[in-house]
Amino acid sequence: MQNDIQEVLISEEELQNKIKELGEILSKEYADRNPLVICVLKGAFIFMADLVKSITVPVEMDFMAVSSYGASTKSSGVVKIIKDLDASVENRDVLIVEDIIDSGLTLTHLIDLLQRRGAKSTTVVTLFDKPSGRKVDLEADYTGFVLPDAFVVGYGLDYAEKYRNLPFIGILKPEIYTS
Ligand code: XMP
Ligand code: MG
Repeated sequence: MQNDIQEVLISEEELQNKIKELGEILSKEYADRNPLVICVLKGAFIFMADLVKSITVPVEMDFMAVSSYGASTKSSGVVKIIKDLDASVENRDVLIVEDIIDSGLTLTHLIDLLQRRGAKSTTVVTLFDKPSGRKVDLEADYTGFVLPDAFVVGYGLDYAEKYRNLPFIGILKPEIYTS
């Protein structure tokens, strides 16, 4: 698996330090509110797990799976709900935990859905942002790292469902896509 990686972009230690920082900021933001933290599956599951351990105030958690890419590395613009939330977001302060924002289409769709369902507030924390890929005007409230326009894997992010379990963020060798 490690042999398929061309370059490590962000090390495990850098990831962990940044996530602790984000956790501290969010602990302050939610000091007197009890947010519903929503993990956008599958990519955000490792980030979510590490992030909530760094949040020192009570939170509730729920999970939602959406799909926009299939096995391709470019957004199709089609967002499908694969697994819906168990909890109601009505009148809740919602914190959406995303792995990466590229075109912004997935999150725009998700925020719109949660607002239509009556969320009191929607706040977005994303571990990665690729601003050069944006097709809609959307900014996360909190961002871990800004990335160049490259397809990245590891720390929850996949290529054709592989590489999610790498503890760092890397770029695949080009021959992996073409073979
Ligand atoms: P959009 O374009 O809707 O994309 O903002 C958000 C979703 O697309 C996936 N995505 C990636 N997945 N490496 C990945 O493994 C990447 O470089 C990448 N860029 C976007 C991701 O699932 C995210 O939720
Ligand atoms: Mg994916």
